[in-house]
Amino acid sequence: MTSTTFSSVYDYLSPYSTFKSSTTLGFSIVCTIFLSLYWYANKTDIPYIKGIPEIPGAVPIFGHLLKLGDDHATMCERWWRKYQTSVYQIKLGNTRAVVVNSFDDVRRMLIGHQSAVIDRPTLYTFHGVISSTQGFTIGSSPWDDSTKNRRKAAGQALGRPAIRTYFDMFDLESYCVVRDFYRYSQRGGVEINVRPFIQRYALNTTLTLCYGIRMDSAYDELLREILEVGSAISLLRSASENYQDYVPAFRYLPSNEKTQRSKELRARRDKYLGYLLNKVRVMIEQGTDKPCISSAILKDQETKLTEVEVSSICLSLVSGGFETIPGTLTSCIGSLSTPEGQVFQDRAYEDIQRHYPGGTSEIWMNSFEAEKVPYVNAIVKEAARYYTVSALSLPRKTVTDIEWDGAIIPAKTMILINAQAANHDVDHFGPDADTFNPERWLTSNLDAALHNSLSALEEKPSQGIQHYSFGAGSRACSGQLIASRLLYTAVIRILSCYKIIASEAEPPNTDYVDYNQFKSALVAIPRDFKVRLVPRQGVEIDGILREAENRTKNYYQE
Ligand code: HEM
Repeated sequence: MTSTTFSSVYDYLSPYSTFKSSTTLGFSIVCTIFLSLYWYANKTDIPYIKGIPEIPGAVPIFGHLLKLGDDHATMCERWWRKYQTSVYQIKLGNTRAVVVNSFDDVRRMLIGHQSAVIDRPTLYTFHGVISSTQGFTIGSSPWDDSTKNRRKAAGQALGRPAIRTYFDMFDLESYCVVRDFYRYSQRGGVEINVRPFIQRYALNTTLTLCYGIRMDSAYDELLREILEVGSAISLLRSASENYQDYVPAFRYLPSNEKTQRSKELRARRDKYLGYLLNKVRVMIEQGTDKPCISSAILKDQETKLTEVEVSSICLSLVSGGFETIPGTLTSCIGSLSTPEGQVFQDRAYEDIQRHYPGGTSEIWMNSFEAEKVPYVNAIVKEAARYYTVSALSLPRKTVTDIEWDGAIIPAKTMILINAQAANHDVDHFGPDADTFNPERWLTSNLDAALHNSLSALEEKPSQGIQHYSFGAGSRACSGQLIASRLLYTAVIRILSCYKIIASEAEPPNTDYVDYNQFKSALVAIPRDFKVRLVPRQGVEIDGILREAENRTKNYYQE
C-alpha cells in the first residue's frame, strides 16, 4: 500500500474526516436549500423578458409590490419619467407584468396588438373566492366562447340602436337627480354633497337595464347594500390590498382575513342578486315584468345563454357603471364649481342656449336623445380624461407572443395599461395635461368664437382614440356609449337649472391623483365635498320639475 493510498484510507476512516465530510455535506445541503429558497422567492410565472427594461429594486417574494405602495398608477407614472422608459417590466410577487404608460405606446399595445391582448388574468381572491358562485363579470373573464357570447349580448344591450329604447329611463333618472338636488339643497339655500344622488342615478340605470327594477330613494336600503358590497369587492380586486393574489404563502396564514371577508361579501352579493332575479321571475309570472335583459333571457327570447351567464352579464353591467359614473360625474361637478370652473359653466350655458333658444323645457326634452352641444361634450370628455377613475384600467393578458421593439413579450404575460399616465401624457396633450380644461376639445379660435356669440364653436374633429378612460381595442368598455349619454344628460340638465359654486368650508379636491380617497381601489372614490346650487336667473325650476314629473310618473312603475 503506498503512503498516498494509506493516507486516503486513514482520512476516510478517521473521526475527524467524517466530521469534515459531514460538515461539507451539511453546508452543501444548507446552500442548496438557501439557493432553492432564493430561487423560489424570486421566481415569476414568466421569466425575465429580455429587451424590456426592469425597474430596479425588486425584493425576493414581493418583487416590486412594496415599492409600488397603495397607488400603483401614480408610482408607475413616476417610474416612467424617472427611468425614461414608457414600457417596462415589474414583478408583482410571483407575477411578471409589463406596464405601458405613454399615450402612443398604449395605442400601440391595445390597438396594434388587439388580438394578442384580448385575454384577462385570473386572480386568486376575486376569481377563486368571490366569483365562485355567480361566475366572473365580463371584464374579469379570460377570453373564451362564453366570454365572447356574453360580451356580444352586453354589446347588443348597450349598443347605439338599443340606446334609443332607454330614453324614458334617461329622462326619469336624470329628472330624479335634479329633483333631489332641489329638495335637499332647499331650493339652493343649503350646501349639499351630490354623490349619493349620482350613485343612485348610475345604479338605477343598470338595474333598470338588467332587471327592470329601480329605487326612488337615494338612501334606499337595498341600493346602499349594493353600493357598499360593490365598493368593498372593488377594493379586494386591487393588488395593493391583496398580497395573497401574488404571494401565495399569504393564503395559508391561519388568520387570513381577506379570504374570510371575501366569503362574507360573496354571500351578501349572492343574496341581493338572487333577490333581484327572483323578483323578475315573479313579475314574469304575474305578467308585470318590464322589458330588460334578464326577463328577455329568462323568457328565452334571446340567445342560448345559461342562467350563470345571465347573472354574469347583469353583474357586469351593474358593477361596470355604479362606481365609474359617480366617480367621473361627481369629480366633474367639483371641477366646475371652482372659480376657474365657473367660467366653463358660463360658456357651456351660453352654448346650450345657442343650440336650444326655446328655453329650459326645450333643453330638457332634447337632453337624452342626442349629444348635440359641443361645450357639454367637451366637459364630458375632459371629465373622463382628467379624472381617470379606472387609473390602471382592467388588466390584460397576452394570448400569443408580442414582438415589441425587438423584444418578445411571451404569451400569458400580464399587461398593465396605465390609463392615468396616458391621459396626462404631456407629449400628447401638451404642457397643460394636468389641468382640467374642457376647451382643449374645442376649436382653437375660441376667443373669436366667443365674441361671435359662440356661433363658431365646434368640437375638434376626433382623430382616433381621444383618451383611455374606457380602454380601447378588443376588450374596450362595453358601456361607453351609455356612459357618455348619462354624463351628458346629467350635465346639461344640471347646468340648465343651476350655477354650481364650491363650498368654502368643504371645497372639492381637484388634483387628478389626490381627489381619490381610496388610492388602492380599482375605481376611484372622490373625497367628499359640498357645493351650493344657485338657481339660474329666469329659470323656473319648479315648473321644469313638475313637467318632468308628469312626463315620467308612469315610467317603470311596479
Ligand atoms: C364613466 C364610466 C365608465 C368608465 C370610465 C369605464 C371604464 C372601463 C374600463 C377602463 C374598462 C376596461 C377596458 C379595457 O380593458 O380596455 C371597462 C370595461 C367594461 N365596462 Fe366600463 N366603464 C364605464 C361605464 C360602464 C357602464 C355604464 C357599463 C355597463 C352598463 C360598463 C360595462 C363594462 C363592461 C361589460 C366591461 C368589460 C369589457 C370586456 O372585458 O370585454 N362600463 N370599462
